[in-house]
Amino acid sequence: MITVQDLTYRLQDKDIPSQLQTLTELFAGQVSFSSSFGQEDQVLTDIIFRNQLPVNIFTIDTGRLFQETYDVMDKTTARYHQTIQTYFPERNDVERLVKEKGFNSFYESVDNRIECCQVRKVKPLERALQNVKVWVTGLRADQSQNRKTIPLVEWIEDKQLFKFNPLLNWSLDAVITYLDEFKVPYNLLHDKGFISIGCAPCTRAIEPGEDLRAGRWWWESSKKECGLHK
Ligand code: ADX
Ligand code: SF4
Repeated sequence: MITVQDLTYRLQDKDIPSQLQTLTELFAGQVSFSSSFGQEDQVLTDIIFRNQLPVNIFTIDTGRLFQETYDVMDKTTARYHQTIQTYFPERNDVERLVKEKGFNSFYESVDNRIECCQVRKVKPLERALQNVKVWVTGLRADQSQNRKTIPLVEWIEDKQLFKFNPLLNWSLDAVITYLDEFKVPYNLLHDKGFISIGCAPCTRAIEPGEDLRAGRWWWESSKKECGLHK
């Protein structure tokens, strides 16, 4: 079985289309990219669709997204004439959560917030990654302090798959320049001070100079991760 070191060595000096091509040859039908339709993810979607790479693209609709996010989803599928698979939370989980704790329990405690993220994001992600061997993400190292040490390729033991972060060393400026150059549809909230965009009740715009993820779960002082990326 191929190791993280082997894979890193084979990928590290290639451009992103060649990296994805290599991965789809090594793991045919088992390479999936998770998109939240944020700026980084739109770069990767454009690369995948324009190069006709056999990478599955999926998104998780938590049920609490912004209207602008749904708008860019539709614009993207229309632009490339492709479908992107949407995973939803389990109906029984959501019904139980809302019955027990109401619609806005995430504001009440970190535990409640993590519970909601588990139901609406983490469990659907587990379903989306079944039978996947390479999980592609749009993570960038300079998004936050705890993303600084992310490697290009990592082995995720509990999911038994490789995680591949091709935009790891891209700056936000490089991402924006790419979207502009290739006229890629983007979430219009980015024009209103939103950088990192998740669910509507848990995301706000940021002020100049604030941390890029300061608008996520802004009422919490803790790590600002939802559990998708441990
Ligand atoms: S999060 O963990 O805080 O929500 P973030 O918004 O920074 O993550 O996005 C990082 C990466 O996680 C994205 O590039 C994408 O690969 C994945 N991701 C985040 N949210 C979703 C989503 N709703 N659906 C699919 N993938 C997502
Ligand atoms: Fe729930 Fe907020 Fe997490 Fe979305 S980001 S799943 S609304 S706690």
